[in-house]
Amino acid sequence: MNIGIIGSGGREHSLCFKLKESVLVDKIFCFPGNAGTRLIAKNINLDITDFEKIHKTCEKEKIELIVVGPEKPLVDGIVDYFKDTKIKIFGPNKICSQLEGSKTFTKKLCEKYKIPTSDFKIIYEEKSAFNYLQTVDYPLVVKADGLAAGKGVYICKSHNDAKKAVKEIFDGRFGKADCVLIEQFLSGEEMSYFIICDGSTYKFFQTAQDHKRVGENDTGKNTGGMGAYSPSRLYCNNLDEKIKEKIIKPTLMGIKDLGTSYRGFLYIGLMIVENEPFLIEFNVRMGDPECQTILPILESDLGELIQACCDKKLSSFNIKWKQKKSVCVVLCSNGYPDNYKKNIKIDQIKNIKLHQNEYIFHAGTKIENGEYFATGGRVLNIIAISENFRRSKDQTLKILNDINWKEGFFRKDIANKVI
Ligand code: AMP
Ligand code: GLY
Repeated sequence: MNIGIIGSGGREHSLCFKLKESVLVDKIFCFPGNAGTRLIAKNINLDITDFEKIHKTCEKEKIELIVVGPEKPLVDGIVDYFKDTKIKIFGPNKICSQLEGSKTFTKKLCEKYKIPTSDFKIIYEEKSAFNYLQTVDYPLVVKADGLAAGKGVYICKSHNDAKKAVKEIFDGRFGKADCVLIEQFLSGEEMSYFIICDGSTYKFFQTAQDHKRVGENDTGKNTGGMGAYSPSRLYCNNLDEKIKEKIIKPTLMGIKDLGTSYRGFLYIGLMIVENEPFLIEFNVRMGDPECQTILPILESDLGELIQACCDKKLSSFNIKWKQKKSVCVVLCSNGYPDNYKKNIKIDQIKNIKLHQNEYIFHAGTKIENGEYFATGGRVLNIIAISENFRRSKDQTLKILNDINWKEGFFRKDIANKVI
């Protein structure tokens, strides 16, 4: 069958790569894709908020199944749009996508179903928020309610920081704000935990540890993710049981009580405090760069797996994993996550010869006359899998050394905690 993938980042290149290996897949189309997906799929440059246009293109190209990478089209209801068409689409519907699209929706669900999360308060007026901020301890966390491309979260060390955050949110930095979320700061270690769901069954889809801060030793600004390793060092059977019992089960029950069901990937962002899981956030998609880190260790056929989910046959699908350790390092443009130059040539990339178990997934890249150019902040994802984290990491660093891109930088300490 022909498949359409929506998105243009490293996550989508890795999905494209893994689906290309599937026995079920003929042609792949990426909307709009990047220079990496272009090597294995046909990129179609269209506005991904225009569902009608996507639909027409799918009909023209005989695409039978769409896989959605990023959150925005899901939150905007792309799955609901395609429900009455002949084209299958893999991802959660609009109601379920509120798990990511509205932080207050998720917090209310946590409250109702007693899901462990940080204490919180939702405040609808700037003045009430300022008053409340005088009564609390610091640090604390201030969040905008809706999608903010990873930027709507402020970790505030002082009353002043928190006031500034509240003001920015109500001033509309992330769009019109009806409320702010003020949360207790949780101190622990984060873990990204993934499941895949078919609407009635779900299965574990690995763990990973992202590195969100731009600087080494987790310093500096938050980014989309500077690298990851998988599986997470925190993962064990005991924690797994707690996550399933205390977080996944009540969440899926809450979704069921809303009269719907969850189909797609679900990313559970956790803070682990003394071996207890606390929910920080849900994302209704795979993580980026977690997806690029995890898919190379997936042994099973991803096309068959997604097909099984669309047919509600996940319960009889045995997801197999390679017993390997994966490390992903993200190469970024100098200046990221602030301003950076665009259209900078990446000279060496075309000369890199990858060995088995090594992967490069493109993010913000384009190709012109056989030359590659960086167009985004996060540019390339370099991944290696092997028997141990040290070896995987060394392999990624060797590739980065060979790419030797002077206009970019990367964190050299990815996965150091497990090495
Ligand atoms: P979010 O977009 O909600 O995932 O927040 C982005 C990042 O902010 C998370 O990955 C955490 O590192 C941090 N964070 C969010 N909420 C909290 C919290 N309640 N306590 C501590 N850190 C948090
Ligand atoms: N890696 C964080 C995210 O995908 O949101």
